[in-house]
Amino acid sequence: MNKNFYITTPIYYPSAKPHMGHAYSSIIADFFARSKKIQGSNVFFLTGTDEHGLKIQRAAEKKGMNPKDFCDEISITFRELSKTLNLTNNDFIRTTEERHFKSVQNLWNILEKKNEIYLSKYSGWYSVSDEAFYTDDEVENIDGVRKSKISSSQVEWVEEESFFFKLSKWEKPLLKFYDENPKFILPESRRNEVISFVKSGLKDLSVSRKSFSWGIKVPSNDQHVIYVWLDALTNYLSALNYPDVKDKLFKDFWPASLHLIGKDILRFHAVYWPAFLLAANIPLPKRVYGHGWILSGEEKMSKSKGNILDPIEIIKEYGLDPLRYYLIKEVSFGNDGNISQEKLEKCINSDLANNYGNLCQRVMAFIEKNLDSQIPNKIEFTNEDLAILENFNNSYQNLLDYIDDQDINSYINYILERLFAANKYFNDEEPWKKKDEIIRLNTIIYVSLELIRKITILLYPIIPASALKVLKVFEIKENEIEFKSIRNNNYLKYGKKINRMSILFKKIEKND
Ligand code: MSP
Repeated sequence: MNKNFYITTPIYYPSAKPHMGHAYSSIIADFFARSKKIQGSNVFFLTGTDEHGLKIQRAAEKKGMNPKDFCDEISITFRELSKTLNLTNNDFIRTTEERHFKSVQNLWNILEKKNEIYLSKYSGWYSVSDEAFYTDDEVENIDGVRKSKISSSQVEWVEEESFFFKLSKWEKPLLKFYDENPKFILPESRRNEVISFVKSGLKDLSVSRKSFSWGIKVPSNDQHVIYVWLDALTNYLSALNYPDVKDKLFKDFWPASLHLIGKDILRFHAVYWPAFLLAANIPLPKRVYGHGWILSGEEKMSKSKGNILDPIEIIKEYGLDPLRYYLIKEVSFGNDGNISQEKLEKCINSDLANNYGNLCQRVMAFIEKNLDSQIPNKIEFTNEDLAILENFNNSYQNLLDYIDDQDINSYINYILERLFAANKYFNDEEPWKKKDEIIRLNTIIYVSLELIRKITILLYPIIPASALKVLKVFEIKENEIEFKSIRNNNYLKYGKKINRMSILFKKIEKND
Protein backbone atom coordinates (compact mmCIF):
# COMPACT_ATOMS: atom_id res chain seq x y z
CA MET A 1 0.00 0.00 0.00
CA ASN A 2 1.31 3.43 -0.92
CA LYS A 3 1.52 5.38 2.33
CA ASN A 4 2.21 8.73 0.70
CA PHE A 5 -0.81 10.90 0.13
CA TYR A 6 -0.68 14.23 -1.70
CA ILE A 7 -3.81 16.36 -1.58
CA THR A 8 -4.33 19.82 -3.03
CA THR A 9 -6.97 22.54 -2.92
CA PRO A 10 -7.40 24.87 -5.88
CA ILE A 11 -5.14 27.88 -5.51
CA TYR A 12 -7.41 30.82 -4.94
CA TYR A 13 -7.51 34.09 -6.85
CA PRO A 14 -6.59 36.87 -4.45
CA SER A 15 -8.85 39.27 -6.33
CA ALA A 16 -10.93 39.83 -3.21
CA LYS A 17 -10.92 38.47 0.31
CA PRO A 18 -11.86 34.82 0.84
CA HIS A 19 -15.49 33.69 1.04
CA MET A 20 -17.37 30.59 2.12
CA GLY A 21 -16.80 28.78 -1.20
CA HIS A 22 -13.04 28.98 -0.66
CA ALA A 23 -13.41 27.92 2.97
CA TYR A 24 -15.46 24.93 1.80
CA SER A 25 -12.80 23.56 -0.59
CA SER A 26 -10.15 23.99 2.08
CA ILE A 27 -12.14 22.40 4.90
CA ILE A 28 -12.98 19.37 2.79
CA ALA A 29 -9.34 18.97 1.81
CA ASP A 30 -8.36 19.19 5.46
CA PHE A 31 -10.90 16.49 6.30
CA PHE A 32 -9.15 14.11 3.88
CA ALA A 33 -5.67 15.15 4.99
CA ARG A 34 -6.48 14.47 8.64
CA SER A 35 -8.31 11.23 7.83
CA LYS A 36 -5.31 9.86 5.95
CA LYS A 37 -2.89 11.05 8.58
CA ILE A 38 -4.59 9.13 11.37
CA GLN A 39 -4.60 6.09 9.09
CA GLY A 40 -0.81 6.29 9.15
CA SER A 41 -0.26 7.90 5.74
CA ASN A 42 2.49 10.36 5.10
CA VAL A 43 0.42 13.35 3.99
CA PHE A 44 1.39 16.41 2.00
CA PHE A 45 -1.38 18.96 1.86
CA LEU A 46 -1.04 22.02 -0.37
CA THR A 47 -3.03 25.20 -0.75
CA GLY A 48 -2.16 28.69 -1.96
CA THR A 49 -2.99 31.64 -4.21
CA ASP A 50 -3.15 32.04 -8.00
CA GLU A 51 -1.83 35.53 -8.63
CA HIS A 52 -1.28 36.16 -12.33
CA GLY A 53 -3.52 37.06 -15.26
CA LEU A 54 -5.82 39.78 -16.41
CA LYS A 55 -8.37 39.22 -13.66
CA ILE A 56 -5.84 40.08 -10.97
CA GLN A 57 -4.24 42.84 -13.03
CA ARG A 58 -7.61 44.55 -13.45
CA ALA A 59 -8.57 44.10 -9.81
CA ALA A 60 -5.26 45.76 -8.83
CA GLU A 61 -5.77 48.60 -11.31
CA LYS A 62 -9.19 49.27 -9.83
CA LYS A 63 -7.53 49.82 -6.48
CA GLY A 64 -4.80 51.90 -8.06
CA MET A 65 -2.17 49.41 -6.94
CA ASN A 66 0.51 47.48 -8.74
CA PRO A 67 -0.48 43.80 -9.01
CA LYS A 68 2.31 42.44 -6.83
CA ASP A 69 1.51 44.75 -3.88
CA PHE A 70 -2.15 44.02 -4.37
CA CYS A 71 -1.54 40.25 -4.27
CA ASP A 72 0.77 40.53 -1.26
CA GLU A 73 -2.04 42.19 0.64
CA ILE A 74 -4.81 39.77 -0.23
CA SER A 75 -2.77 36.57 -0.32
CA ILE A 76 -2.09 37.13 3.38
CA THR A 77 -5.80 36.99 4.13
CA PHE A 78 -5.96 33.56 2.46
CA ARG A 79 -2.92 32.40 4.42
CA GLU A 80 -4.55 33.63 7.62
CA LEU A 81 -7.79 31.91 6.70
CA SER A 82 -5.88 28.61 6.51
CA LYS A 83 -4.92 29.14 10.14
CA THR A 84 -8.39 30.23 11.16
CA LEU A 85 -9.83 27.10 9.56
CA ASN A 86 -7.29 24.98 11.46
CA LEU A 87 -5.95 23.49 8.25
CA THR A 88 -3.05 21.07 8.42
CA ASN A 89 -1.55 22.26 5.14
CA ASN A 90 2.19 21.62 4.80
CA ASP A 91 2.79 24.47 2.40
CA PHE A 92 1.14 27.57 1.03
CA ILE A 93 2.24 28.36 -2.49
CA ARG A 94 2.00 31.68 -4.30
CA THR A 95 2.41 31.72 -8.05
CA THR A 96 4.47 34.91 -7.78
CA GLU A 97 7.23 32.99 -5.99
CA GLU A 98 10.55 32.30 -7.64
CA ARG A 99 10.26 28.52 -7.18
CA HIS A 100 7.06 28.57 -9.22
CA PHE A 101 8.51 30.66 -12.08
CA LYS A 102 11.29 28.11 -12.48
CA SER A 103 8.85 25.25 -12.55
CA VAL A 104 6.41 26.81 -15.06
CA GLN A 105 9.15 27.91 -17.44
CA ASN A 106 10.68 24.45 -17.28
CA LEU A 107 7.38 22.82 -18.18
CA TRP A 108 6.94 25.31 -21.02
CA ASN A 109 10.42 24.55 -22.36
CA ILE A 110 9.70 20.83 -22.36
CA LEU A 111 6.44 21.35 -24.23
CA GLU A 112 8.13 23.61 -26.78
CA LYS A 113 11.02 21.22 -27.24
CA LYS A 114 8.65 18.35 -27.80
CA ASN A 115 6.93 20.38 -30.45
CA GLU A 116 3.67 20.55 -28.53
CA ILE A 117 3.47 24.35 -28.83
CA TYR A 118 3.35 26.56 -31.92
CA LEU A 119 2.89 30.27 -32.62
CA SER A 120 -0.27 31.46 -34.38
CA LYS A 121 -3.10 33.94 -33.85
CA TYR A 122 -6.08 33.71 -31.50
CA SER A 123 -9.38 35.28 -32.32
CA GLY A 124 -12.31 34.39 -30.13
CA TRP A 125 -14.10 34.97 -26.87
CA TYR A 126 -12.40 35.29 -23.51
CA SER A 127 -13.85 35.57 -20.03
CA VAL A 128 -11.57 37.45 -17.69
CA SER A 129 -13.59 36.34 -14.70
CA ASP A 130 -13.04 32.65 -15.56
CA GLU A 131 -9.71 33.25 -17.31
CA ALA A 132 -11.11 30.97 -20.02
CA PHE A 133 -11.51 30.90 -23.79
CA TYR A 134 -14.94 30.09 -25.17
CA THR A 135 -16.10 29.06 -28.63
CA ASP A 136 -18.98 30.73 -30.46
CA ASP A 137 -21.26 27.86 -29.44
CA GLU A 138 -20.46 28.41 -25.80
CA VAL A 139 -21.43 32.08 -25.87
CA GLU A 140 -24.89 33.64 -25.81
CA ASN A 141 -26.18 37.16 -26.16
CA ILE A 142 -28.24 38.27 -23.16
CA ASP A 143 -29.70 41.77 -23.47
CA GLY A 144 -26.82 42.86 -25.64
CA VAL A 145 -24.18 41.40 -23.32
CA ARG A 146 -22.21 38.36 -24.47
CA LYS A 147 -21.94 35.74 -21.77
CA SER A 148 -20.53 32.25 -21.40
CA LYS A 149 -23.33 29.68 -21.38
CA ILE A 150 -21.24 27.58 -19.02
CA SER A 151 -20.44 30.08 -16.29
CA SER A 152 -22.72 33.04 -17.17
CA SER A 153 -19.77 35.36 -16.92
CA GLN A 154 -19.22 38.13 -19.42
CA VAL A 155 -16.88 37.49 -22.35
CA GLU A 156 -14.88 39.86 -24.51
CA TRP A 157 -13.50 39.49 -28.02
CA VAL A 158 -9.77 38.87 -28.24
CA GLU A 159 -7.59 38.94 -31.33
CA GLU A 160 -3.87 38.61 -30.86
CA GLU A 161 -0.79 36.60 -31.64
CA SER A 162 -0.65 33.62 -29.33
CA PHE A 163 1.16 30.37 -28.71
CA PHE A 164 -1.04 27.30 -28.98
CA PHE A 165 -0.80 23.95 -27.25
CA LYS A 166 -1.69 20.99 -29.47
CA LEU A 167 -4.61 19.94 -27.34
CA SER A 168 -6.47 18.31 -30.24
CA LYS A 169 -3.73 15.71 -30.50
CA TRP A 170 -4.53 14.47 -26.98
CA GLU A 171 -8.23 13.82 -27.50
CA LYS A 172 -7.89 10.07 -28.03
CA PRO A 173 -5.16 9.48 -25.44
CA LEU A 174 -7.30 11.34 -22.88
CA LEU A 175 -10.38 9.25 -23.66
CA LYS A 176 -8.26 6.11 -23.34
CA PHE A 177 -6.93 7.34 -20.02
CA TYR A 178 -10.43 8.06 -18.65
CA ASP A 179 -11.49 4.63 -19.80
CA GLU A 180 -8.58 2.87 -18.13
CA ASN A 181 -8.90 4.93 -14.96
CA PRO A 182 -12.62 5.01 -14.23
CA LYS A 183 -12.12 6.80 -10.93
CA PHE A 184 -9.82 9.52 -12.26
CA ILE A 185 -12.74 11.96 -12.30
CA LEU A 186 -15.29 11.82 -9.52
CA PRO A 187 -18.18 12.04 -8.93
CA GLU A 188 -19.44 9.89 -11.77
CA SER A 189 -21.76 12.59 -13.17
CA ARG A 190 -18.84 14.97 -13.65
CA ARG A 191 -16.80 12.24 -15.30
CA ASN A 192 -19.56 11.83 -17.85
CA GLU A 193 -19.65 15.58 -18.50
CA VAL A 194 -15.92 15.65 -19.11
CA ILE A 195 -15.98 12.63 -21.39
CA SER A 196 -18.73 14.07 -23.55
CA PHE A 197 -16.88 17.40 -23.72
CA VAL A 198 -13.72 15.66 -24.93
CA LYS A 199 -15.67 13.44 -27.33
CA SER A 200 -17.25 16.51 -28.89
CA GLY A 201 -13.77 17.40 -30.17
CA LEU A 202 -10.84 19.30 -28.69
CA LYS A 203 -9.38 22.36 -30.37
CA ASP A 204 -5.82 23.52 -29.83
CA LEU A 205 -5.58 25.76 -26.80
CA SER A 206 -4.22 29.27 -26.69
CA VAL A 207 -1.54 29.22 -23.98
CA SER A 208 -0.05 32.71 -24.07
CA ARG A 209 -1.23 36.32 -24.05
CA LYS A 210 0.47 39.31 -25.60
CA SER A 211 -1.78 42.23 -24.69
CA PHE A 212 -0.82 42.46 -21.01
CA SER A 213 2.24 41.63 -18.99
CA TRP A 214 1.16 40.41 -15.53
CA GLY A 215 2.34 36.83 -15.70
CA ILE A 216 5.28 34.54 -16.28
CA LYS A 217 7.11 35.31 -19.49
CA VAL A 218 7.36 32.74 -22.27
CA PRO A 219 11.08 31.88 -22.04
CA SER A 220 11.64 31.98 -25.80
CA ASN A 221 9.58 35.14 -26.47
CA ASP A 222 9.33 37.80 -23.80
CA GLN A 223 6.47 39.61 -25.52
CA HIS A 224 4.17 36.85 -24.33
CA VAL A 225 3.07 35.80 -20.85
CA ILE A 226 2.07 32.20 -20.21
CA TYR A 227 -1.69 31.54 -20.02
CA VAL A 228 -2.69 31.82 -16.37
CA TRP A 229 -4.18 28.31 -16.21
CA LEU A 230 -1.01 26.65 -17.49
CA ASP A 231 0.82 28.77 -14.94
CA ALA A 232 -1.63 28.01 -12.09
CA LEU A 233 -1.98 24.25 -12.61
CA THR A 234 1.78 23.85 -12.46
CA ASN A 235 1.69 24.98 -8.81
CA TYR A 236 0.96 21.35 -7.91
CA LEU A 237 4.42 20.44 -9.23
CA SER A 238 6.25 23.57 -8.02
CA ALA A 239 5.46 22.87 -4.37
CA LEU A 240 7.27 19.51 -4.69
CA ASN A 241 10.41 21.26 -5.98
CA TYR A 242 9.82 20.42 -9.63
CA PRO A 243 11.80 20.56 -11.95
CA ASP A 244 14.13 18.77 -9.56
CA VAL A 245 12.50 15.39 -10.15
CA LYS A 246 15.11 13.72 -7.98
CA ASP A 247 14.02 15.79 -4.99
CA LYS A 248 12.59 13.71 -2.15
CA LEU A 249 9.33 15.66 -2.07
CA PHE A 250 8.75 15.12 -5.76
CA LYS A 251 9.71 11.45 -5.60
CA ASP A 252 7.54 10.81 -2.55
CA PHE A 253 4.44 12.73 -3.53
CA TRP A 254 4.09 12.98 -7.30
CA PRO A 255 1.69 11.96 -8.83
CA ALA A 256 -0.84 13.71 -6.61
CA SER A 257 -3.38 11.46 -4.92
CA LEU A 258 -6.24 13.93 -5.05
CA HIS A 259 -6.85 17.32 -6.63
CA LEU A 260 -9.91 18.57 -4.82
CA ILE A 261 -11.62 21.31 -6.81
CA GLY A 262 -14.99 22.94 -7.42
CA LYS A 263 -16.99 21.70 -10.40
CA ASP A 264 -16.50 25.06 -12.13
CA ILE A 265 -12.85 24.31 -12.79
CA LEU A 266 -13.17 20.70 -13.85
CA ARG A 267 -12.31 21.26 -17.50
CA PHE A 268 -8.96 22.77 -16.55
CA HIS A 269 -8.07 19.96 -14.18
CA ALA A 270 -9.53 16.96 -15.96
CA VAL A 271 -8.76 17.91 -19.57
CA TYR A 272 -6.06 20.56 -19.92
CA TRP A 273 -3.91 19.50 -16.98
CA PRO A 274 -3.66 15.80 -17.90
CA ALA A 275 -3.05 16.80 -21.53
CA PHE A 276 -0.14 19.09 -20.56
CA LEU A 277 1.29 16.32 -18.40
CA LEU A 278 0.87 13.63 -21.05
CA ALA A 279 2.60 15.91 -23.54
CA ALA A 280 5.46 16.57 -21.13
CA ASN A 281 5.67 12.90 -20.20
CA ILE A 282 4.99 13.53 -16.52
CA PRO A 283 2.80 11.01 -14.64
CA LEU A 284 -0.84 12.01 -14.22
CA PRO A 285 -2.55 12.69 -10.88
CA LYS A 286 -4.60 9.81 -9.55
CA ARG A 287 -7.83 11.65 -9.00
CA VAL A 288 -9.70 14.89 -9.60
CA TYR A 289 -12.81 15.36 -7.49
CA GLY A 290 -15.16 18.17 -8.52
CA HIS A 291 -17.33 19.16 -5.58
CA GLY A 292 -20.53 21.20 -5.80
CA TRP A 293 -21.09 24.83 -5.00
CA ILE A 294 -22.10 26.53 -1.84
CA LEU A 295 -25.17 28.50 -2.77
CA SER A 296 -26.37 31.59 -1.08
CA GLY A 297 -30.03 31.79 -1.94
CA GLU A 298 -30.15 29.85 -5.19
CA GLU A 299 -26.99 31.26 -6.69
CA LYS A 300 -23.32 30.42 -6.52
CA MET A 301 -21.68 32.72 -4.08
CA SER A 302 -19.33 35.11 -5.76
CA LYS A 303 -18.00 38.60 -5.47
CA SER A 304 -19.62 39.76 -8.69
CA LYS A 305 -23.04 38.59 -7.49
CA GLY A 306 -22.65 40.36 -4.14
CA ASN A 307 -24.00 37.42 -2.11
CA ILE A 308 -20.92 36.44 -0.20
CA LEU A 309 -21.10 34.87 3.24
CA ASP A 310 -17.99 35.70 5.21
CA PRO A 311 -16.52 32.61 6.90
CA ILE A 312 -14.70 34.77 9.43
CA GLU A 313 -17.93 36.38 10.60
CA ILE A 314 -19.63 32.99 10.92
CA ILE A 315 -16.70 31.57 12.87
CA LYS A 316 -16.73 34.58 15.21
CA GLU A 317 -20.36 34.01 15.95
CA TYR A 318 -20.59 30.21 16.12
CA GLY A 319 -17.03 28.86 16.35
CA LEU A 320 -14.97 26.97 13.82
CA ASP A 321 -15.92 23.35 14.48
CA PRO A 322 -19.65 23.98 14.09
CA LEU A 323 -18.95 25.55 10.70
CA ARG A 324 -16.68 22.67 9.65
CA TYR A 325 -19.26 20.14 10.77
CA TYR A 326 -22.07 21.95 9.07
CA LEU A 327 -20.31 22.28 5.71
CA ILE A 328 -19.15 18.67 5.75
CA LYS A 329 -22.47 17.22 6.86
CA GLU A 330 -25.19 19.43 5.48
CA VAL A 331 -23.83 19.98 1.99
CA SER A 332 -24.30 16.60 0.39
CA PHE A 333 -20.80 16.05 -0.94
CA GLY A 334 -20.57 16.24 -4.72
CA ASN A 335 -23.75 18.32 -4.99
CA ASP A 336 -24.56 21.97 -4.51
CA GLY A 337 -25.69 22.98 -1.08
CA ASN A 338 -27.71 25.90 0.09
CA ILE A 339 -26.48 27.28 3.36
CA SER A 340 -28.29 29.41 5.86
CA GLN A 341 -27.80 30.59 9.39
CA GLU A 342 -31.00 28.92 10.44
CA LYS A 343 -29.83 25.53 9.23
CA LEU A 344 -26.44 26.06 10.84
CA GLU A 345 -28.07 26.79 14.21
CA LYS A 346 -30.28 23.73 13.92
CA CYS A 347 -27.29 21.59 13.13
CA ILE A 348 -25.33 22.91 16.12
CA ASN A 349 -28.22 22.31 18.47
CA SER A 350 -29.36 18.92 17.31
CA ASP A 351 -26.21 17.11 16.16
CA LEU A 352 -23.43 18.75 18.09
CA ALA A 353 -24.95 19.98 21.34
CA ASN A 354 -27.78 17.46 21.89
CA ASN A 355 -26.46 14.37 20.25
CA TYR A 356 -22.69 14.28 20.63
CA GLY A 357 -22.03 16.94 23.27
CA ASN A 358 -24.76 15.73 25.56
CA LEU A 359 -23.69 12.09 25.37
CA CYS A 360 -20.13 13.03 26.34
CA GLN A 361 -21.34 15.36 29.08
CA ARG A 362 -23.74 12.85 30.63
CA VAL A 363 -21.30 9.96 30.67
CA MET A 364 -18.46 12.06 32.06
CA ALA A 365 -20.69 13.61 34.73
CA PHE A 366 -21.87 10.16 35.76
CA ILE A 367 -18.31 8.88 36.20
CA GLU A 368 -17.29 11.91 38.15
CA LYS A 369 -20.22 11.57 40.49
CA ASN A 370 -20.40 7.81 40.91
CA LEU A 371 -17.05 6.32 40.03
CA ASP A 372 -14.64 8.87 41.44
CA SER A 373 -13.60 9.88 37.90
CA GLN A 374 -12.09 6.48 37.28
CA ILE A 375 -12.41 4.27 34.24
CA PRO A 376 -14.20 1.23 35.71
CA ASN A 377 -12.07 -1.67 36.82
CA LYS A 378 -14.10 -4.84 36.85
CA ILE A 379 -16.25 -5.37 33.80
CA GLU A 380 -18.03 -8.22 32.07
CA PHE A 381 -19.23 -7.64 28.51
CA THR A 382 -22.53 -9.21 27.50
CA ASN A 383 -23.07 -10.25 23.88
CA GLU A 384 -25.08 -7.07 23.34
CA ASP A 385 -22.23 -4.95 24.70
CA LEU A 386 -19.79 -6.69 22.41
CA ALA A 387 -22.09 -6.30 19.42
CA ILE A 388 -22.32 -2.52 19.75
CA LEU A 389 -18.56 -2.23 20.20
CA GLU A 390 -17.76 -4.66 17.40
CA ASN A 391 -19.84 -2.70 14.93
CA PHE A 392 -16.83 -0.41 14.37
CA ASN A 393 -14.63 -3.37 13.67
CA ASN A 394 -17.11 -4.87 11.25
CA SER A 395 -17.48 -1.56 9.43
CA TYR A 396 -13.77 -0.81 9.43
CA GLN A 397 -13.07 -1.65 5.80
CA ASN A 398 -16.17 0.26 4.68
CA LEU A 399 -14.98 3.34 6.53
CA LEU A 400 -11.56 3.17 4.88
CA ASP A 401 -13.27 2.81 1.50
CA TYR A 402 -15.56 5.78 2.16
CA ILE A 403 -12.49 7.95 2.67
CA ASP A 404 -10.67 6.56 -0.36
CA ASP A 405 -13.74 7.04 -2.57
CA GLN A 406 -14.46 10.54 -1.18
CA ASP A 407 -17.81 9.22 -0.01
CA ILE A 408 -18.15 11.73 2.82
CA ASN A 409 -21.92 11.28 2.94
CA SER A 410 -21.70 7.60 3.88
CA TYR A 411 -18.92 8.32 6.35
CA ILE A 412 -20.96 10.91 8.19
CA ASN A 413 -24.11 8.81 8.08
CA TYR A 414 -22.21 6.04 9.79
CA ILE A 415 -21.15 8.42 12.56
CA LEU A 416 -24.71 9.64 13.04
CA GLU A 417 -26.02 6.11 13.21
CA ARG A 418 -23.39 5.19 15.81
CA LEU A 419 -24.15 8.32 17.83
CA PHE A 420 -27.78 7.35 17.86
CA ALA A 421 -26.89 3.82 18.96
CA ALA A 422 -24.59 5.08 21.72
CA ASN A 423 -27.21 7.47 23.10
CA LYS A 424 -29.81 4.73 22.99
CA TYR A 425 -27.48 2.31 24.76
CA PHE A 426 -26.83 4.72 27.62
CA ASN A 427 -30.55 5.56 27.96
CA ASP A 428 -31.80 1.97 27.72
CA GLU A 429 -29.20 0.54 30.07
CA GLU A 430 -30.05 3.14 32.72
CA PRO A 431 -26.81 2.96 34.73
CA TRP A 432 -28.33 5.31 37.35
CA LYS A 433 -30.62 2.43 38.34
CA LYS A 434 -27.79 -0.11 38.63
CA LYS A 435 -26.03 1.19 41.69
CA ASP A 436 -26.37 -2.22 43.40
CA GLU A 437 -25.08 -4.19 40.44
CA ILE A 438 -21.64 -2.73 40.37
CA ILE A 439 -20.19 -4.98 37.65
CA ARG A 440 -23.07 -4.20 35.33
CA LEU A 441 -22.81 -0.51 36.10
CA ASN A 442 -19.06 -0.59 35.47
CA THR A 443 -19.57 -2.38 32.19
CA ILE A 444 -22.21 0.05 30.93
CA ILE A 445 -19.92 2.96 31.68
CA TYR A 446 -16.88 1.29 30.16
CA VAL A 447 -18.81 0.49 26.99
CA SER A 448 -20.16 4.06 26.85
CA LEU A 449 -16.65 5.46 27.20
CA GLU A 450 -15.33 3.20 24.47
CA LEU A 451 -18.20 4.26 22.21
CA ILE A 452 -17.41 7.93 22.87
CA ARG A 453 -13.74 7.31 22.16
CA LYS A 454 -14.43 5.53 18.87
CA ILE A 455 -16.97 8.07 17.67
CA THR A 456 -14.63 10.90 18.62
CA ILE A 457 -11.85 9.42 16.51
CA LEU A 458 -14.23 9.29 13.56
CA LEU A 459 -15.22 12.90 14.24
CA TYR A 460 -11.64 14.14 14.60
CA PRO A 461 -11.09 14.96 10.88
CA ILE A 462 -14.34 16.95 10.91
CA ILE A 463 -14.20 18.79 14.23
CA PRO A 464 -10.56 18.43 15.28
CA ALA A 465 -10.44 20.90 18.17
CA SER A 466 -13.60 19.55 19.83
CA ALA A 467 -12.52 15.95 19.31
CA LEU A 468 -9.22 16.75 20.98
CA LYS A 469 -11.05 18.15 24.02
CA VAL A 470 -12.80 14.81 24.41
CA LEU A 471 -9.69 12.73 23.76
CA LYS A 472 -7.87 14.81 26.37
CA VAL A 473 -10.17 13.26 28.95
CA PHE A 474 -8.41 9.97 28.16
CA GLU A 475 -5.01 11.62 27.72
CA ILE A 476 -4.87 10.79 24.03
CA LYS A 477 -2.78 13.42 22.25
CA GLU A 478 -3.22 14.51 18.64
CA ASN A 479 -0.16 12.70 17.33
CA GLU A 480 -1.28 9.52 19.10
CA ILE A 481 -4.64 9.26 17.36
CA GLU A 482 -4.85 6.06 15.38
CA PHE A 483 -7.78 5.32 13.18
CA LYS A 484 -7.26 1.61 13.58
CA SER A 485 -7.83 1.90 17.33
CA ILE A 486 -11.58 2.02 16.67
CA ARG A 487 -11.32 -1.76 16.22
CA ASN A 488 -10.08 -2.17 19.77
CA ASN A 489 -12.78 -2.69 22.42
CA ASN A 490 -10.42 -2.50 25.38
CA TYR A 491 -8.33 0.50 24.53
CA LEU A 492 -9.06 2.40 27.73
CA LYS A 493 -7.01 1.45 30.77
CA TYR A 494 -9.01 0.00 33.61
CA GLY A 495 -8.89 2.03 36.80
CA LYS A 496 -7.19 5.04 35.24
CA LYS A 497 -8.41 8.48 36.32
CA ILE A 498 -9.99 10.57 33.60
CA ASN A 499 -9.55 14.29 33.15
CA ARG A 500 -12.35 16.81 33.31
CA MET A 501 -13.88 17.68 30.00
CA SER A 502 -14.23 21.31 28.99
CA ILE A 503 -17.49 22.57 27.48
CA LEU A 504 -17.89 21.24 23.96
CA PHE A 505 -20.75 23.09 22.26
CA LYS A 506 -23.08 25.73 23.53
CA LYS A 507 -26.67 25.44 22.45
CA ILE A 508 -27.89 28.41 20.47
CA GLU A 509 -30.82 29.89 22.34
CA LYS A 510 -33.32 31.93 20.39
CA ASN A 511 -34.16 35.20 22.10
CA ASP A 512 -37.52 35.64 20.49
N1 MSP B 1 -7.54 30.25 -9.34
C1 MSP B 1 -8.47 29.31 -9.83
C2 MSP B 1 -8.06 27.89 -9.44
C3 MSP B 1 -6.71 27.48 -9.92
S1 MSP B 1 -6.29 25.88 -9.41
C4 MSP B 1 -4.89 25.53 -10.24
C5 MSP B 1 -9.86 29.59 -9.25
N2 MSP B 1 -9.88 30.33 -8.15
S2 MSP B 1 -11.19 30.80 -7.37
O1 MSP B 1 -10.72 31.56 -6.25
O2 MSP B 1 -12.08 31.47 -8.27
O3 MSP B 1 -11.96 29.54 -6.92
C6 MSP B 1 -11.28 28.45 -6.41
C7 MSP B 1 -12.20 27.41 -5.90
O4 MSP B 1 -12.98 27.91 -4.83
C8 MSP B 1 -13.27 26.84 -6.82
O5 MSP B 1 -12.92 25.89 -7.68
C9 MSP B 1 -14.08 26.15 -5.80
O6 MSP B 1 -13.38 25.02 -5.39
C10 MSP B 1 -14.11 27.15 -4.69
N3 MSP B 1 -15.29 27.96 -4.83
C11 MSP B 1 -15.40 29.26 -5.19
N4 MSP B 1 -16.69 29.63 -5.07
C12 MSP B 1 -17.41 28.58 -4.66
C13 MSP B 1 -18.70 28.41 -4.15
N5 MSP B 1 -19.60 29.36 -4.14
N6 MSP B 1 -19.00 27.20 -3.61
C14 MSP B 1 -18.06 26.22 -3.45
N7 MSP B 1 -16.86 26.37 -3.89
C15 MSP B 1 -16.57 27.40 -4.77
O7 MSP B 1 -10.84 29.13 -9.78
